[in-house]
Amino acid sequence: MKTVIANWKMNVNVRESVALARGVTRGIRGKDKLPEIVLCASAVALSEMKKILTRSRISLGAQNVHWAESGAHTGETSTRQLAEAKVSHVIVGHSERRTEMGETDVMVNQKIKALLAAKMVPVLCVGETAEVKKKNAEAAKKYVRDQLSAALDGVRFDRQKPFYIAYEPIWSISTSFVKQAKPEEIVEMHEVIRTWLDQQYGHDATAEVHILYGGSVNKENVYSFLREPAIEGVLVGGASVRLNEFMGIIKTAIEINGE
Ligand code: PGA
Repeated sequence: MKTVIANWKMNVNVRESVALARGVTRGIRGKDKLPEIVLCASAVALSEMKKILTRSRISLGAQNVHWAESGAHTGETSTRQLAEAKVSHVIVGHSERRTEMGETDVMVNQKIKALLAAKMVPVLCVGETAEVKKKNAEAAKKYVRDQLSAALDGVRFDRQKPFYIAYEPIWSISTSFVKQAKPEEIVEMHEVIRTWLDQQYGHDATAEVHILYGGSVNKENVYSFLREPAIEGVLVGGASVRLNEFMGIIKTAIEINGE
């Protein structure tokens, strides 16, 4: 079963978040073979979103979390606070947070541990920069493996609980078709990630670790990604705040789930 995760970033306000959530809920009514759908909203919209998504087949996600349960951490949000809004999934280590907010591998690791302790599902983002990609393919693979080993240091997977790793090469985020990662490049990196996981944890332990792709996914190109068995889902930014685009992506995921 494929997964479609929306990352609304800071692009919509509470009213628009509510309208989008209502639109998606309406759009999937009566449909089966749905992908797992997660809507990651801004912290201010979560409690309103909760009202709409409770008893729906859509999960609510957050875009960030602090590793402490409470305390003097101005401007941050804890798992305890997210749990109150019925958040189940949380994006960690997104490249925008790493570059703009100075989020380090150590912070990402602490956040993942906090999420697992709170029984929430991490959506860990990894991906190389354009400079690393320019060097050579080996450098990019090493970069991603290093990000994984730092983020997952001391992390134990539960065979029954989902865990997502989104491969988001930075050069492929919010870009054009020409510059975007090609399905074969993504599949290659997904295989690198899968092999690394198997070597570190064993195949059985990581049965519920799903590897997604993110970077300029839209309703036109999503089929080229989702038809690849190694690409277990997509993390969608820009296209996820346009209802029509996002429903197009879900429609394709439904078709592929039914194949
Ligand atoms: P994009 O963003 O789909 O707008 O490229 C993806 C992401 O940053 O998660």
